[in-house]
Order: sequence, then structure tokens, then C-alpha cells
Amino acid sequence: MCGIVGYIGKRQATPILISGLRRLEYRGYDSAGVAVHNGESSRVVRCCGKLSNLEQKLALEPVPGMLGIGHTRWATHGKPSDENAHPHKAGGVSVVHNGIIENHVALRNELEEEGVTFSSDTDTEIFAHLIHREMRGGAEALARGVQQVLRKVQGAYAIVVMDDADPSTLVAAKSASPLVIGLGDGENYVASDVTAILDETRDMIFVEEQELATVRPSGVHITDLDGNPVERAPRRINWSVVQAEKQGYRHFMQKEIFEQPRAVADTLAGRLDRERGDVKLDGIDLDVRSIRRVVFVACGTSYHASLIGKFLVESLARIPTEVDLASEFRYRDPLIGSGDLVIGISQSGETADTMAAMKMAREKGATLLAVSNVLESSIPRMADHAFYTHAGPEIGVASTKAFVTQLASLVLIAAYLGRRSGALDRGRGDELLGELAELPKKMSDVIEHSAQLQVIARRYGGAKGFLFLGRGNQYPIALEGALKLKEISYIHAEGYAAGEMKHGPIALIDETMPVIVIAPRGAHYEKVISNLTEVRARDGKIVAIATRGDTEIGSAADEVVMVPTAAPEILPLLTALPLQLLAYYVAVSKGTDIDQPRNLAKSVTVE
Ligand code: AGP
Repeated sequence: MCGIVGYIGKRQATPILISGLRRLEYRGYDSAGVAVHNGESSRVVRCCGKLSNLEQKLALEPVPGMLGIGHTRWATHGKPSDENAHPHKAGGVSVVHNGIIENHVALRNELEEEGVTFSSDTDTEIFAHLIHREMRGGAEALARGVQQVLRKVQGAYAIVVMDDADPSTLVAAKSASPLVIGLGDGENYVASDVTAILDETRDMIFVEEQELATVRPSGVHITDLDGNPVERAPRRINWSVVQAEKQGYRHFMQKEIFEQPRAVADTLAGRLDRERGDVKLDGIDLDVRSIRRVVFVACGTSYHASLIGKFLVESLARIPTEVDLASEFRYRDPLIGSGDLVIGISQSGETADTMAAMKMAREKGATLLAVSNVLESSIPRMADHAFYTHAGPEIGVASTKAFVTQLASLVLIAAYLGRRSGALDRGRGDELLGELAELPKKMSDVIEHSAQLQVIARRYGGAKGFLFLGRGNQYPIALEGALKLKEISYIHAEGYAAGEMKHGPIALIDETMPVIVIAPRGAHYEKVISNLTEVRARDGKIVAIATRGDTEIGSAADEVVMVPTAAPEILPLLTALPLQLLAYYVAVSKGTDIDQPRNLAKSVTVE
């Protein structure tokens, strides 16, 4: 996620902006920049790479002034580069922006038809041109110009704007992306995250949805987007900086579990073509009719996502699909050729085994598609096509939001393939997109009931081992639940296909073995219930993950955790959440290092 800092007051802005952006480095970024107003006009200094690069540039070309905005960018639209770094300026208007403009293509076309030439590939530059057009058109104040523009924009944003013509004002606005105002004495601050300005002030005003703030040295004025004043009392923030980095959560992993609805919404933004019941795959254009097979290669959690990808591609596109651990694929001399679409899934985009597998596939003539969370990382760079999750930086070693955004991306990719293979008609395609659009709300619903998982974790957290069972596309979720638990709590856990119980694992069952069974209503329900009774008969303790409205499951399990109903293709994105929460709360009870578990690295760049 990008970082924003703004300052207006009686001191030089640049040092305050830089120290604020430095506080946001933990969130990950690939470029940075500032725009500072010297009273006459503003100048933008920005560059690719780390803040130290920006500081070197500023040492060579200082930008004096007591009004400024700064930004650290985590690239989503447009690769990391000086030109794509923020702030973006059009005329006298400078803008920094977090979020995604869903209707960026239409707005960009509109501006280009008016003769605007763009200097970047970003959706943010559109804001600068649109606001500049309003100011040129006679908007009586910067706030008014920004209001007019926000009426045209769809999507998530936190923006901070300044105008050469008005050195006494910063305008900030928010929709779905965090924004906070810091209050000083004769000076005020704006930031995407309290961490950035906690060294300057602890008195904060949190801007809420669809609100706009006019910030001057003398004070702050908040309105809704129609200009109606909003009263908002300041809050005293007593967090330490470390707590603030986690936005009040105890661990990055907890924060990342709780921000999954937002991460999925950002990953879906601008990619659902409801009119055509189709998917916009960021300009990817595959000759689907020539694909005779899809092969997924990945590791760890991304491998579990790939297993679900197989269900999705085969059910929605009817294209034969295989899945292989990248570390196995690369050494088995796989029969791969030109008719194969090899999809490499990697949150980091740097996993050595996955990279090697993709390289081998390419040498054998396959077409490569990368699914990654890090723009321009090695694996997307080497692929023929790249599709990005927009989960934002995932700091916790145990993957959570990256996993669910991979699943959302795989629904999109499978639907894209299906609409072109002819297997998915427009009506069913639109139904599926409608389910996706509903998903963030349903995910929030599950997360709101997280306290139940805390209780279950306390009740069973002392167990020596756990068994996770699932059928169909819930079997990979069982594998993922087991991996989450073992990697952060160090308790042994196994994920198993529920149908395999009788072929061995049932020997493990006794009253000391908690068995987590994913049992949503659907094709496999009756079979899973019979597996539950087999476990019950051997005194196993059963925690069932079921779908709301199921009145039978309660008599078959010791605990039932309900998730909202959804289409089978969508359910894994919901059933994964209680398992993440269970793993998290068990690890909390064990006191392990949840964000940096022993022996693990966030990206395995060696074999
Ligand atoms: C997941 O919780 C683990 N951290 C690990 O299995 C991870 O998924 C695996 O190393 C693959 O990483 P990648 O997605 O960055 O390629």
C-alpha cells in the first residue's frame, strides 16, 4: 500500500515529509517523491527506488517551502519508474494518491480527446489533469475543484492536492483508503497512516468515507462531497510508533487478516465487466482456443491456491488443468509444449523454485502467465503475461491476504478463459461476477465473528496435533489451514482429503485430536457429514466450518463456525478465513513470533 504525507505551516516542509515517509517504509514501496510550494509555485522531485535516492536528489536540488506533499508508491498501475512516481502535476495542481481509479480508462480517454498528453502510466495523473481542468474552468476554490472531480471518479482513493495558485491550502479526500489529519499549533499535517506524523503530533482527526478536508495552518474544515460541513472531534492517539505501524493490531498478520475484504475489493476493482459478464484482465490477450492444457506451478500457500485454480479452470473453462509443486516440476522433466499455458503463482514473485519451473516451461515452448503481488518482480518480469493481486505489501511471513487475493484472481482468470473457450456463457459469467462483487462484504461478516475462533483456540490450543479435512475445492483449504497453523504455532497439523480418512488418518483420531472439518452445504455435504460421524465415533473433537442456515451440522460437531453462503467457486475465499483466525489465535496463546516464525523467510529465493 502507498504512503502519503502532507504538511502546511511555519517550518520547512521537506524534512517533515521525508521523516514521515521514512516512517511508512515498513509498508513496502518502489518509488518516492515530494512536491513543495515555495509561496510562488511548487516543484516536484521524485524517483524510483528507496527514499535515500530521493534524499540524494533533494540534496542536489533543494525545494524550500512551508507547504508540501510526499508519497511512497507501491506500484499497481504502471511499473516502478521516476515518471510513474508521485506526486503528479498538471498545470499548477500537484496530487498524491493511494487507491485505484476503476474508471481510469474512460477518464484518460476523455482527457486525451481534449488534447491532454500524459507523462505516466498511472491512474493518479488523471486526478491532476481533471483537477487542473476544474481550476482552469474557474472553480472558486481548490476544495470545490476537487469535489467536482470526485463526482466523476469511481474506486478507492485517498488523495492530497495542492495548487500553485493557493499557497495557503491543502485539500485531502477519502474513499475506502485511510486518511488522517494531524493537528499542530499554526501547522497541520495529512497522512495515510498515523505512523507518518506521530512524531509531530498525537492529536488526529480521522477523515471518514466520502469526506473532504481543507487544511490550512490556522485549522481544518471538513465537509462531505457536496460541501456540507461535518463536525469531527480530534482524537488523542497514544499508540507507540510500533503499534501505529500495525494500526493498533497486535501483529502484522492480524492486521493483514482483517484487511482482506479491502485487499480483495482492490484486486477486483476495475476488472469486472458486468455488462458483458466478462473480465478485464489488465490488457492480457490470450489465444484461449489454442490452449490445450493449463499447468500451475507454485510453492506453499501459492500451491494451495493453484489447487483451487485447477477446480476453477476445469469447471469454468473446461480446459484440462494440472498442478505441480514447482520444486517437483523442475526436476521431473515434464512433458510441456507450445499448447500449454503455465501459470506461476507467487506472492513475492521471487521464489526460486517457481522461477526455475517457469524458466523450464518457457524453454519447452509453453506460454507463461504469472500471478504475483509485487509489480515488476522477477517472475512476472520473465513471464509472457502478468496479472497482479492488489493485496498491498504482505509483511507477515504467513500468507493470508495474498492467498485470498490469489483465489479472487484465479476466479477472474478462469472466468476469462471460460468466456473465450465458450464454456462460460454471459449469464453465468455475470452471476459469478455478482458473487465476486458481494464477496468483500461477506468476508467482513466472517471476520466480525473472529471472537468465536479465539474461544476455540483457547479450548484446543494445547493439542499436540490437528487434522484438517475437506473435499473438492475445500481440500486445498484444509491443506492451507494446516499450513497456517503449523507455520506460526509450531503445532503439527495435517490437511487431508476427507475421503481419505479410512485410508490411514483415522488411526490418529482420539479425544486429544481436534479435527477441523470444512463442511459447507453443497455437492460433498452428505459425504463430509459421514466423515464427521466416523471421527465422532472415535471421540475426536470436531470443529466444523459450515454455511449459515445449516441446522444439521450442530448435532454432528462439537463446535460450528458459520460462514455466509456463496457459489461453490467463491466459498473457499470464505472458509479460509476462520482457519487463518484459528491459527493466529492458537499462536497468540502459544506466544510464538507470529510475524517472523522461526526458520521461515517471507520469500524463499534459494532452493
Ligand atoms: C505461506 O504462509 C508461506 N509463507 C509460504 O508457504 C509461501 O506461500 C511460499 O514460500 C511461496 O511464496 P510465494 O508465494 O512468494 O512464491
